[in-house]
Amino acid sequence: MQRISLIAAMSENRVIGNHNHLPWHLPDDWKNFRKVTDGKAFLMGRKSYQAEDALVSDYRNIIVTSKEDLDLCSHCQRAENLPAAFEMLANEKEFFILGGGSIFEQTIDNANYLYLTIVHQTFSGDAFFPAINWNLWNKVKSVYHEADEQHAFAFSLNEYERKSI
Ligand SMILES: NC(=O)c1ccc[n+]([C@@H]2O[C@H](COP(=O)([O-])OP(=O)(O)OC[C@H]3O[C@@H](n4cnc5c(N)ncnc54)[C@H](OP(=O)(O)O)[C@@H]3O)[C@@H](O)[C@H]2O)c1
Repeated sequence: MQRISLIAAMSENRVIGNHNHLPWHLPDDWKNFRKVTDGKAFLMGRKSYQAEDALVSDYRNIIVTSKEDLDLCSHCQRAENLPAAFEMLANEKEFFILGGGSIFEQTIDNANYLYLTIVHQTFSGDAFFPAINWNLWNKVKSVYHEADEQHAFAFSLNEYERKSI
């Protein structure tokens, strides 16, 4: 079965972004992101793609947008809607849904694996992770990271897989 992984970091109050930026800087969360996504294809919304702190795959990126004239990086392709994006990714053994909020909201029901960093703090923001029905998910991993000199906030690297029904 194809693995459709959704990867996100959210605060305790489900904030994921503010003014098209991440509200925190957590180097060990980036390291984990790089490790788990290495060599895999990404699917993301146009605003996340254009964010200053955007991450792109060296392999393949599908950017969902209605804009036909969007500037695209060398490993980037445009999809005009989400069904087209999923079709383009159909032959990938695994791909990652990177956000942002509108894309998470529309694709959470398609994902069967979830990498979710919880930043143990509340933030103000304008982009949010969708409410999740946790009855549908099993937590398979959770690693707690203390706040320290490089990390202003404690966080947990959590992984969940969708229950088979
Ligand atoms: N913490 C995290 O894990 C994380 C991860 C990623 C992003 N973020 C944050 O999330 C925020 C951005 O999220 P966002 O919700 O504002 O924007 P977004 O989801 O990144 O992008 C929204 C755009 O994607 C396109 N789009 C979305 N659904 C579409 C559809 N069904 N068909 C065609 N195009 C579609 C549209 O582009 P057009 O307007 O061009 O048509 C839309 O304006 C930023 O603050 C960013 O930092 C956080």
